[in-house]
Amino acid sequence: MIPEEFDESFQPIIGAPVTIRPLRPDDSGIERDFVSGLSNETRYNRLLGGAIKVSDEYIRRLTELDWSREAAFAAVTMLGDRESIIGVARYVIEDDGEDCEFALVLADAWQGRGIGRRMLEKLMNIAAQRGIKRMHGEILSTNVPMLALVRKLGFRLKRHPQDATVTRAVKYL
Ligand SMILES: CC(C)(COP(=O)(O)OP(=O)(O)OC[C@H]1O[C@@H](n2cnc3c(N)ncnc32)[C@H](O)[C@@H]1OP(=O)(O)O)[C@@H](O)C(=O)NCCC(=O)NCCS
Repeated sequence: MIPEEFDESFQPIIGAPVTIRPLRPDDSGIERDFVSGLSNETRYNRLLGGAIKVSDEYIRRLTELDWSREAAFAAVTMLGDRESIIGVARYVIEDDGEDCEFALVLADAWQGRGIGRRMLEKLMNIAAQRGIKRMHGEILSTNVPMLALVRKLGFRLKRHPQDATVTRAVKYL
């Protein structure tokens, strides 16, 4: 079930007020705009270097969630008279039910305003409330902003055993 009680609004350092709320199936249009608007560098960092095709099926997978095994929150703001997504944080629970993998991405123009940190903190709190024990993420070893952010939030960093280009961040919740 979509957890409506998790909405949170705040004023970032600069820019219009932002609300963090669950991502819903009817967000497919603004999610598509968000993903399509990301720069190559941001996509590269988010997708660990992989390429994506923004198909209907891809957007459906991102917005139609099985909340019993995953969660996704959008940071939204009003641009003119229209709500826009400016960031998404999500986790997927592993088969053991105790671990989850997170992913986080902010629209280029909204990076560096404290929003990513707030989203990841929220994601960690929600995962902990739901009884998940550990959260991890795979981060490109060149992704200095993300490595700095997870370090600040108390994640331990380990080099990937098979791939030095990837750092694994792990946190007990
Ligand atoms: C990485 C990312 C999620 C961080 O979100 P953000 O909203 O830009 O980060 P915040 O403004 O909340 O910053 C939080 C902390 O991250 C670090 N940070 C952010 N931008 C940084 C930069 N350009 N250089 C170094 N550190 C940086 C800092 O430690 C910062 O804390 P501080 O403000 O107290 O110094 C965002 O930049 C992004 O979407 N990048 C592209 C996609 C990506 O890399 N996703 C992660 C995949 S694993």
